[in-house]
Amino acid sequence: MTNYTSLDLQGPVGKPLVRVSGREKVTGTATFTAEWPIEDILHVVAVPSTIPHGTVREIDSSDAEKMSGVRLIITPENVPKFTRVQSGSETNFATTVASSLFPAAEKEVFHAGQYMAAVVAESFTAARDAALQVKLKYETKPHVTDIDQAQADERPEKLMGAPAVITIGDAEQALQESEVVVDHEYPLIGNHHNPIEMHAAIAHWTSKNNKPFLTVYETSQSLSAAQTSYAKVFGIDPKQVRVICKYVGGAFGSKGLMWPHALLACFAAKLTDQPCKCVVTRSQLYGGTGHRTPIRQRVAIGANKDGKIHSIIHDGYASTAIKDTYSEAFTMVTRMMYHTDHLRLDQKQCRLNSQMPTFMRAPAETPGMFALESAIDELAQELKIDPIELRRRNEPEKDIHSGKPFSSRLLLQCLDAGAKRFGWNERDPAPRSQSEGNWLIGQGVAAATYPFFTFPTKVRVTVHADGRVRIDCCSQEIGTGTRTAQSQLLADMLDVPASRVSMELGDTALPKGGISGGSATTASVGGAIRDAVEKLKSRLVGLAPSDSALAGVKVDEVRFENGTLVSPKGSIAIEDLLSDAMKESVSVMGELNASKDSSFSKHSFGATFVEVAVDEELGLVRMRRMLGCYSCGTILNKKTGRSQFIGGMIMGIGHALHEATHWDHRLGRITNDNLAEYHIPVNADIPEIDIMWIDTADYDASPIGAKGIGEISITGVAAAVANAVHHATGKRIRSLPITPDKVMV
Ligand code: MOS
Repeated sequence: MTNYTSLDLQGPVGKPLVRVSGREKVTGTATFTAEWPIEDILHVVAVPSTIPHGTVREIDSSDAEKMSGVRLIITPENVPKFTRVQSGSETNFATTVASSLFPAAEKEVFHAGQYMAAVVAESFTAARDAALQVKLKYETKPHVTDIDQAQADERPEKLMGAPAVITIGDAEQALQESEVVVDHEYPLIGNHHNPIEMHAAIAHWTSKNNKPFLTVYETSQSLSAAQTSYAKVFGIDPKQVRVICKYVGGAFGSKGLMWPHALLACFAAKLTDQPCKCVVTRSQLYGGTGHRTPIRQRVAIGANKDGKIHSIIHDGYASTAIKDTYSEAFTMVTRMMYHTDHLRLDQKQCRLNSQMPTFMRAPAETPGMFALESAIDELAQELKIDPIELRRRNEPEKDIHSGKPFSSRLLLQCLDAGAKRFGWNERDPAPRSQSEGNWLIGQGVAAATYPFFTFPTKVRVTVHADGRVRIDCCSQEIGTGTRTAQSQLLADMLDVPASRVSMELGDTALPKGGISGGSATTASVGGAIRDAVEKLKSRLVGLAPSDSALAGVKVDEVRFENGTLVSPKGSIAIEDLLSDAMKESVSVMGELNASKDSSFSKHSFGATFVEVAVDEELGLVRMRRMLGCYSCGTILNKKTGRSQFIGGMIMGIGHALHEATHWDHRLGRITNDNLAEYHIPVNADIPEIDIMWIDTADYDASPIGAKGIGEISITGVAAAVANAVHHATGKRIRSLPITPDKVMV
């Protein structure tokens, strides 16, 4: 039994077509949010709190007000009326307002970097200079920013819809009775997304039909939800709001929610009755647009001498903000990765004087898989069993938590195919057995996984009499090539060249789309397109004259072939059908509803192989080569798909070796709030990356056979690197990033 009937995709789908936005991007003509040419625009710069906890007693803006070009200082005294809404992550994303602390509207400070006031001026530099002259007088209160000093005494209500505690059997007892046990902690420091395009919003209030109308250009992964959220905050109908974003220059999850700067632009525009732009500065990003929470976690595995796992415990805690809750579901992967008769997952959380944590680059799987896949490697070492063989011996027949079969699970196939191409079996498995001069050489492997789901999505498909076909959907272009891939998909279903199909996105005037996150865009938009193609066929057959080859045929008997509708009785070109009916075009709406409770457990799988060279005297870890082999269903475009896998692996290198947000806990502030000191991988850090995949359509998971590829390739990298460092040196590093101080002898 499959959920969806398979599609016969033999045309443009899978071909390495060049992305349609490539030329615009490399020639600089693609318009990013801060670049919209809008006349009479004013600039807004926030005044962030310099303390982590307390009360603002006084805002002295007398000097700032006198500065040239300054138009207005926004404070809680003059902030326009708005409706308080809860944070989106507490309302199942009924709104996408990230934080319930509103900008320039609060007197209570809960984290350093909270926007307590703002300056509106005629230029960015005037606003920035004046913002430095706004003096806040505080009464301070004690703060906690250190996860190791916090009380983790509460449990998240839900982790992505699932309970925070899951037990099967008696994991503690089974652990004690196991012949071999590995039991370790894998602490993780927090991270910041640091997209190259800074977060920005331009807001403009006008009127339409005698009602206020808000237009916002916003860097966003989630325009349709932003539209609803602005409407709620300002007490207007969503129809009175339009949100636009044609390109996103990097997001990584940090543009999924609406952060305070966007509301600040709306407040300023309301008070000045002019368009207002707020661009977050690099430093303000650290307290302004979310981060990946630090995590304290433990994984314990008990097995017998043959490597059969009996018990797994994965527990620990993450942090959230004082007033708002985002729960990072880091134990979630452990419920479906391996077979065990006894399982205990238990997550807690603490509250820190930091801004809201949020999704970042495969949230949940990235930190969780680092711990789990390191622990599996440690168990393999203990047992002297090859780590791939160990995984083979613990491959589950079904999802042990839900009891459902997997829609598809090609983990072992990915491990085997990857191992073959990587030359895994050519290595000497003993740790510290390979060297070249000063360099110790090691190879590591880890599994990768990412869940599959879709977001409700609507699309409009229009076929023109001149042969052009167009898709309209308020999805987002976050750099993955959505317009290209979806055009290929529709072209394939209609059997026309991909060059005839174009897609418009990034505007709430278009049919409602979902968040471009959770690696869910391809199947969500594609599922709606599939529905639209069915409806288009009925519409076109309905237009056929009664004396034509399509008269009286059943829609099911008709197929698209080479731009023609073909039935057993004969065929008609779509262009002829339209011109005979005196129509310039025909439009239909397609829809994909929320994913229903399914009889399958739906995930993508993969295998990550890395080779590192380690200089123990200098503490250096160099990536030498990487290979990823994935099973994510149909891949719509070989070229953009491969790029996404490579991108994810590079993000994984950042997580493994470079990225860390450092705090001065006495001050309660982040110390490396800039791109010079927050390290991210650069070209010289990246080795040869070999990408392969097992292209098996999964119609039990996805209406178009494709799952998602945005995030899975991050999830195995950090563990594979740590496992390779262990293989090279014999030293197990259980915290990230793997910096020279941890490696040095
Ligand atoms: Mo992604 S972290 O789901 O935007």
